[in-house]
Amino acid sequence: MYANRVLSGMRPTGKLHLGHYHGVLKNWVQLQHEHECLFFVADWHALTTLYDSPQMIQEHIQEMVVDWLAAGVDPALSTVFVQSQVPEHAELHLLLSMFTPLGWLERIPTYKDQQEKLGEKDLSTYGFLGYPLLQSADILIYRANLVPVGEDQVPHIEFTREIARRFNHLYGREPGFEQKAEAAAKKLGNKKARLYDELRTRYQEQGDDEALEAARALLNEQQSLSMGDRERLFGYLEGSGKMILTEPQALLTVASRLPGLDGQKMSKSYHNTIALRDAPEDVSKKIRTMPTDPARVRRTDAGTPEKCPVWALHQVYSDDAVRQWVHDSCSQAKIGCLECKQPVVDAVLAELAPMQERAAYYHETPSLIRNLIDDGCEKARELARDTMRDVRQAMGLHFD
Ligand code: TRP
Ligand code: SF4
Repeated sequence: MYANRVLSGMRPTGKLHLGHYHGVLKNWVQLQHEHECLFFVADWHALTTLYDSPQMIQEHIQEMVVDWLAAGVDPALSTVFVQSQVPEHAELHLLLSMFTPLGWLERIPTYKDQQEKLGEKDLSTYGFLGYPLLQSADILIYRANLVPVGEDQVPHIEFTREIARRFNHLYGREPGFEQKAEAAAKKLGNKKARLYDELRTRYQEQGDDEALEAARALLNEQQSLSMGDRERLFGYLEGSGKMILTEPQALLTVASRLPGLDGQKMSKSYHNTIALRDAPEDVSKKIRTMPTDPARVRRTDAGTPEKCPVWALHQVYSDDAVRQWVHDSCSQAKIGCLECKQPVVDAVLAELAPMQERAAYYHETPSLIRNLIDDGCEKARELARDTMRDVRQAMGLHFD
């Protein structure tokens, strides 16, 4: 049993590159050893902006999963699935939409930003406005409490927390809630029930966050509580209704941002990427033809590493000794740029080699990928179904 559940998704928009690896995937690979992890292909999200090119999305789904596995996402540790294969996401999205104020969606910064950035495309659609809510459904349906995202996505997680809170407030107020919560507390046993009450009082009367954390930890340790009682005790603790949906936290990726070949952010639209599956010859060539400090016209011209995108790569790929060597030799014109680039070429190739080996293995056996995605979807559906049962019940939509 893990205490935390991590969920994250990525849009299938093309071949993944080292920017994705250093910014996102490396972090996922690490997390899967620490927490229960669910990673999914956000194909519906891709449709919110690429609704006119669905065939592209289809092609990219399996390829992206190959890239994930190549990067080290381990299907034995993590659940990997495709969003559209778990239709419960759409059902939850619909139900959440009933009480989501339009203003909350309009005020999310990515809404206006993206509309301006993708100006040539008509994004005044219902789906595009609602896409953060779809993201909320993605998260809430698994009761995930940790969501690794980049900085630009933090407002989406904040919004998701507000949605969860509003849901619990609207639908967690069952008749006799207080009495039921008190009765649930008694089931913890005398000592723990007293501790729970004490911590709850400290939190509610003095806003003591440590008491809140301690009480949550106490509840998390209780294996024998029924789901209903758990929801009551978590909700009672914070003074809301039953805590049917869990408020997630953003896990801000301390992304080592990898600059692209020209020093700008590595991005497909800037044509400055090294793809995870670029052939080694191409990788060498890309690095060897990278621009350098323009002051170094001849080998005898001294350079300033800080003005050179190769230097930025040395920050990621080289140790202190190599960096010292680069800095001294560049500023005193003791080496040529190709010589300087060689350690970066070697390091990138060494980083990519095991990835490409894994990718080749999966690429040769497409049925493996297929089966692994199918298994992941099945697991995800089971978790999603569980939450939907509670959600339907809370919203008066149960017919059994
Ligand atoms: N919106 C994210 C993006 O565009 C992808 C995404 C969709 C996601 N659902 C998610 C990320 C849930 C984290 C959790 O990059
Ligand atoms: Fe850049 Fe290295 Fe050439 Fe200096 S020697 S300009 S750091 S590539």
